[in-house]
Amino acid sequence: MSAAIIDGKAFAEGLRARIATHAGEFAAKAGRKAGLAVVLVGEDPASQVYVRNKGKQTIACGMESFEHKLAADTSEADLLAVVEALNADPAVDGILVQLPLPGHMNEQKVIAAINPDKDVDGFHVVNVGRLSTGLPGFVPCTPLGCVMLLKDKLGSLEGLDAVVIGRSNIVGKPMAQLLIAESCTVTVAHSRTKDLPEVVRRADIVVAAVGRPEMVKGEWIKPGATVIDVGINRVPGTQEGKSRLVGDVDFASASAVAGAITPVPGGVGPMTIAVLLRNTIVAAHRNEGLALDESAI
Ligand code: GUN
Repeated sequence: MSAAIIDGKAFAEGLRARIATHAGEFAAKAGRKAGLAVVLVGEDPASQVYVRNKGKQTIACGMESFEHKLAADTSEADLLAVVEALNADPAVDGILVQLPLPGHMNEQKVIAAINPDKDVDGFHVVNVGRLSTGLPGFVPCTPLGCVMLLKDKLGSLEGLDAVVIGRSNIVGKPMAQLLIAESCTVTVAHSRTKDLPEVVRRADIVVAAVGRPEMVKGEWIKPGATVIDVGINRVPGTQEGKSRLVGDVDFASASAVAGAITPVPGGVGPMTIAVLLRNTIVAAHRNEGLALDESAI
């Protein structure tokens, strides 16, 4: 193996420490803690784990956590009423409605109901528009975490060729926008891309967010490139009955060629909640009209 390992777990710990400092200063100035509300509808086990971890880390950073757990058969109107109440609550700086929602609800309608200035997920069309036009808003947590790791490793990204594999609203598209803003030359590849290995071979930066276990092979990677693996895929393990987590990148072959690479687990994964808390402390300062050097967090 030749690649440097990009330690997202360690970076996320440092980020949470900086957030905790800002959260303490915010509470002293505002006379209240910054607050994050998380809404969970139904009993999806993976979502329950995410929500529990978000709540724990919010409190550990010195912020207030408000959890709203609603039954799976809650009506869309009742969920919208909860969102409206959170929009109006001055103790709530950030609102996150855990996705996916049950099938009888329209996710776009629910996201559209969130006040864009409390939309710490960055999913509201107003924040999507702000990102694409370069206005201050909120950026989805996972791609923002990827850019933080890239800048920490490489410094300026100016002029670099970046290939994003995946075009989802949550990762691929905002990732491309962020890399454009960093003056990269960006290609967005996806399942219909012709000759994906050849496209990936041009890239100084490869961001894999397709949800296909170990799809990106070492032979596709330009020697010395930086590889960011957003994938979290559970596959059968070597032992009977055991499973293991793998990314969208074949780590064994890619780490022999890349200059730097994120592992799975311990790369991009730990960044997502840390960036959510970063967005929340940013929201709190904006909502109270308090100064904060957002680029230094
Ligand atoms: N479900 C899985 N990841 C996310 C996320 O980042 N935000 C929300 N709201 N739901 C999710």
